[in-house]
Amino acid sequence: MPTMKKILIEPNSGKKYLVKDLAEDYHTSFGIIKSKDLKGKKSKIRSSTGKEFLLLDASFPDLWEQFQRGPQIMLQKDIGLVIAKTGINKNSEVVDAGGGSGSLCLSLANICKKVTVYEIHPEHHKVVQKNIALTGMSNITLKQDDIYQGIKEKELDLITLDLPEPWQVNKHAEKALKDGGYLIIYLPNLTQMQKFLASAKGTSFKVLETVELLERKWAINEQIMRPEFEMLGHTGFMAFCRKM
Ligand SMILES: C[S@@+](CC[C@H](N)C(=O)[O-])C[C@H]1O[C@@H](n2cnc3c(N)ncnc32)[C@H](O)[C@@H]1O
Repeated sequence: MPTMKKILIEPNSGKKYLVKDLAEDYHTSFGIIKSKDLKGKKSKIRSSTGKEFLLLDASFPDLWEQFQRGPQIMLQKDIGLVIAKTGINKNSEVVDAGGGSGSLCLSLANICKKVTVYEIHPEHHKVVQKNIALTGMSNITLKQDDIYQGIKEKELDLITLDLPEPWQVNKHAEKALKDGGYLIIYLPNLTQMQKFLASAKGTSFKVLETVELLERKWAINEQIMRPEFEMLGHTGFMAFCRKM
């Protein structure tokens, strides 16, 4: 991934610091890290107070955690399923709408050849732009356009739709996807999903499955090993469709 960004990790707390500019000394709550150490080859370095840090190249998840948040993002559990079920890879060309906060489109750009993002709202467009800049990715194109009006890109491997009325995109998606390409719909409400599923009848899309994915985190330390008491009950429903 094209990033010169580093991540500093304080091993005891697990606290992470994103270092965007290696030319400057970096100030942490555990003292200052010298620029010459940030630029050096050692992965274990010390702050001015003698505190040891791990210095690593920032991975994509490290950057994802630092993204500016605008509208509700798609979470990693749901993104993981999109990637696994569509088999997208370094040769894939993708359209995503709406860009929102850039969580999904940037996760796709991290593994695909090319991603084009449609985001209609000017404020959300700015958030995605900022998050693209943070990653330094150059295989992603952001448009401030209404995807309900059409999709210019053709021969796509995947279209992902996380917006209120995906049924307005059916006819554009049919033209833009290659045969065998995937259309993924992500919606928070079953009423919307019902409307989409009804709209898909009579199109060239076969709905392969409709899924809700639950993730249960566990609390683990020396004394306890059990599911956490609180759980994120619902994110969204996903419909996996394929152009046949
Ligand atoms: C829930 S957010 C998407 C979040 C995004 N998937 C992420 O992971 O960060 C929905 C976005 O769709 C955008 N949107 C709604 N209608 C649209 C349209 N017709 N064309 C393009 N974007 C649209 C909204 O402005 C909003 O930013």
